[in-house]
Amino acid sequence: METRKLGNAGPQTSQLGLGLMGMSDLYGPADRSESLATIAAALDAGITLLDTGDFYGMGHNEMLLGEALRSVPRGQVQVSVKFGAVRDVDGGFIGYDARPQSVANFAAYSLRRLGTDYIDIYRPSRVDPATPIEDTVGAIAELVRKGHVRHIGLSEVNAETLRRAHAVHPIVDVQIEYSMISRGIENGLLQTARELGVGITAYGVLSRGLISGHWSAQREGEKDFRGQYSPRFQGENLKHNLELVERMRAVAQAKGISMAQLAIAWVMAQGTDIVPLVGARTRQRLQEALGAVDAMLLQSDLQALDLIVPQGAAAGGRYNDYQLGHLDSEKAA
Ligand SMILES: NC(=O)c1ccc[n+]([C@@H]2O[C@H](COP(=O)([O-])OP(=O)(O)OC[C@H]3O[C@@H](n4cnc5c(N)ncnc54)[C@H](OP(=O)(O)O)[C@@H]3O)[C@@H](O)[C@H]2O)c1
Repeated sequence: METRKLGNAGPQTSQLGLGLMGMSDLYGPADRSESLATIAAALDAGITLLDTGDFYGMGHNEMLLGEALRSVPRGQVQVSVKFGAVRDVDGGFIGYDARPQSVANFAAYSLRRLGTDYIDIYRPSRVDPATPIEDTVGAIAELVRKGHVRHIGLSEVNAETLRRAHAVHPIVDVQIEYSMISRGIENGLLQTARELGVGITAYGVLSRGLISGHWSAQREGEKDFRGQYSPRFQGENLKHNLELVERMRAVAQAKGISMAQLAIAWVMAQGTDIVPLVGARTRQRLQEALGAVDAMLLQSDLQALDLIVPQGAAAGGRYNDYQLGHLDSEKAA
């Protein structure tokens, strides 16, 4: 698999990363042994960038990753960890905390759960409204100085926050949702990231499964994040969005690739500074996702897709209004 450099200051990673969230949380039950087998298969295929969060399954995801990496030479992978989401015993999300002393505390627990001496890229999952980004980044920079963290990333920030953070310490990447139907980063953030030499790790490239080609109207209302909280997966929105998928699928079929491969390849085609994180939870899904690496999209394919899914074509927000209200990336820079 080809590699990419994440930002001017960042590490060399695989051109495709694996996101582990769904193996512990939010997308319904996951099978532990299949999750471990999927991580192993990803490593065998040359994926080196593995993304987790301390709040994914409240520690479960990091312990899973720690187990998967037990016999893997540490230098062969890049572990990306998010922190800051605060949860209650029922799993509810009850706030964000990225104060300096909390950063030091979260990192200590993550290192222990992961069973490692350092985290390759450490990032706040959201901007803590009560803590200036300079203070949060300054606290991570302290961990860099001590050798516990190699690089600093951000998540779901706007261009202004990125500039402020980058002035404190080089930022290697911004992790943010980006797909054919979630194109907010094209309105300023991507340009600023390029100007500053900051990479993008794109999540939700399949819009959490919605544009994977495997979602169907019959799954409406499933008791997970998608069925319960995501407006795009509900009612008339879902119907509209699945109609879009059928039109995109025609482009995929004409190229002899699957819908999921088309969606991942589209993100890869937006620039070599962008590394998609795929959320495969099984070896079967992973195998399909890996096929996107060889699916070269032509300019004519991109133009055809732009006609089918121009900016704003999806019905419903990528999060509900309450969650959107917590996204710095959704605030005008
Ligand atoms: N920074 C942030 O705020 C943030 C937010 C969300 C996620 N992330 C990170 O980004 C990663 C990816 O996000 P995501 O899981 O929402 O993205 P995604 O790749 O858009 O969606 C993954 C889901 O799509 C379905 N799918 C269908 N075909 C697939 C295929 N061939 N390959 C992979 N998945 C397929 C799977 O659902 P089924 O298993 O149900 O079939 C899977 O759970 C996460 O694991 C996490 O590490 C970051």
